[in-house]
Amino acid sequence: MFTPLSRLLHTQIPIIQAGMIWCSGWELAAAVSNAGGLGTLGAGSMYPEQLEGQLKQLLNALEIDGQPKKPFAVNLPLLYPQVEDHLRLIEAYQVPVVICSAGNPSKFTSRLKNAGCKVLHVVSSTRFAVKAQEAGVDAVIAEGFEAGGHNGREETTTLCLVPAVRQAIDLPLVAAGGIGSGAAIAAALALGADGVQIGSLYAATTESSAHQAFKARIATAVEGDTRLALKDLTPVRLLDNDFARKVHQAEREGVGPQALAEILGRGRAKKGMFEGDLVEGELEIGQVSAMIRQIVPAGPLTKSLWEDCQATLKRLASLTS
Ligand SMILES: Cc1cc2nc3c(=O)[nH]c(=O)nc-3n(C[C@H](O)[C@H](O)[C@H](O)COP(=O)(O)O)c2cc1C
Repeated sequence: MFTPLSRLLHTQIPIIQAGMIWCSGWELAAAVSNAGGLGTLGAGSMYPEQLEGQLKQLLNALEIDGQPKKPFAVNLPLLYPQVEDHLRLIEAYQVPVVICSAGNPSKFTSRLKNAGCKVLHVVSSTRFAVKAQEAGVDAVIAEGFEAGGHNGREETTTLCLVPAVRQAIDLPLVAAGGIGSGAAIAAALALGADGVQIGSLYAATTESSAHQAFKARIATAVEGDTRLALKDLTPVRLLDNDFARKVHQAEREGVGPQALAEILGRGRAKKGMFEGDLVEGELEIGQVSAMIRQIVPAGPLTKSLWEDCQATLKRLASLTS
């Protein structure tokens, strides 16, 4: 089944593996792209020289004798301090797809499109989806409140956001946030999306570059273990631990952004997700973590998600025939 999204991205299936700081290096991106989806490097936690090394490794891993290279993406959080260096690498390595997030879509879209990239932009509200369309992006990723990582202040769930964005824009639309099964992909398609972006599920795969202790913790998460935090600073969904409880307590006491920034400090996300400090580190994961029970390889996961989606669509069709 080809959707406008898979045609745009030149993928076999409309599943995007999300760019995720400290979790999505070339091994994960290669596994997903080679399985027919779109693998993504999470550039937000890479210095330019690291991104370049990752691009080289990924291009190697996607090279198949005589066959055209599989597509892949780089996720570029636009607030990243060395964004100019990353842009130059994206241009030099002719990255086919760039997924921009955390910033103004009018800033770099034309430049990236002039370099031949397809540009997708992540939004958490209908207002910003319209802005992204006006800025000339190729597709919009609507990310709901359930999602892991940084999040919108509006707290709009995927179920509410996707149909609202579908009504407001004409571009290919990707649903993100809370996608944990083939049935959820089918639901996203029913809401008007042309495909999905999945983060949390891929953070807990064999090829994810996250620390083993973080992956193991994800596999024991239960409903209610993640909560949106730091809303007055940069909203992010955190998995429960001493650090997250400290933040929630400070927020209950009504402290301001400056004090929250001090509690956060520097390097917390690396400490938690990459170095495996489950007590004091920042652990970013979505609500769907409550469904993750084991660490699985990303390629077979991608294929089985799509098979389950197709089976769900068939089952639904049989209900009305
Ligand atoms: C560990 C983790 C790190 C993330 N880092 C980023 C990032 O660097 N840039 C970004 O645009 N989104 C980031 N996200 C959000 C994902 O790109 C994606 O939109 C989200 O995970 C989808 O929701 P899900 O987690 O419910 O699948 C991150 C998510 C997770 C779980």
